[in-house]
Amino acid sequence: MSTAKKNNVKRVTTHTIQEMKNRGERISMLTSYDFSMATIVDEAGIDIILVGDSASNVMAGHETTLPITLDQMIYHASSVVRGASRCLVVVDLPFGAYQGNSKEALTSSIRIMKESGAHAVKMEGGSEIIESIERILSAGIPVMGHLGLTPQSIYKFGTYVVRAKEEEEAKKLIEDAQALEKAGCFAIVLEKIPAKLAKQVAESVKIPIIGIGAGNGVDGQVLVIHDMLGINKEFSPRFLRRYNDLYSSIKGSVEQYINDVKSKDFPNEKEQY
Ligand code: KIV
Repeated sequence: MSTAKKNNVKRVTTHTIQEMKNRGERISMLTSYDFSMATIVDEAGIDIILVGDSASNVMAGHETTLPITLDQMIYHASSVVRGASRCLVVVDLPFGAYQGNSKEALTSSIRIMKESGAHAVKMEGGSEIIESIERILSAGIPVMGHLGLTPQSIYKFGTYVVRAKEEEEAKKLIEDAQALEKAGCFAIVLEKIPAKLAKQVAESVKIPIIGIGAGNGVDGQVLVIHDMLGINKEFSPRFLRRYNDLYSSIKGSVEQYINDVKSKDFPNEKEQY
């Protein structure tokens, strides 16, 4: 029996997410990569946990999302699934696990679903990945799209600046969003594009649009949890709202612990057998 059933809670599904858009209720999404964090985020009432390939940056310390492997994504995803009893869990297909080969895209997606117990996959790209999306969907696996700044293509873009500011790229982005909807994606992430364009996209498709650095005219928001909790000291783009300063808080606690050990204050009489 699934954890959701055991705990008698109603699981958020792709249908729930669609109904939220239909009635104008905003969708909340955050990343998580491990059991403990997923438990907290799920209990707080998040709608969607994204097991993002940003794990490559914030968990493994890589400069880009390119190095993370399918096996590593499955490890993170299965840890998250064990902690999340209510929300929808979506997992990024990592770089190299789907590009240019729809059979491989399907095989990778099946591995994620089978080995982690997650509920959907996310993939970056527009018209060029439609065949893969259709093949994955034909196996009954829900797909979330990702347009705008797509970090797996960082070496093509050259920089992490705002995408689709020019008319031609904006037009292609709207067409891609419509193509993803037509192919059957249940939602799309729009990353780092002008707010006006993101609103236009959200109004031009029926499926939910979830933004990161895409303004307030979309159907939901997503942030990387390490960024919004202030665990990352260096990363402070304009779109980020920090809800905590965990870097300072954790560092302060560790310094206090070191002092207590060195001064022989810890453990005291009550903290021993
Ligand atoms: O990998 C990730 O965390 C993401 C979000 C930034 C949307 O794709």
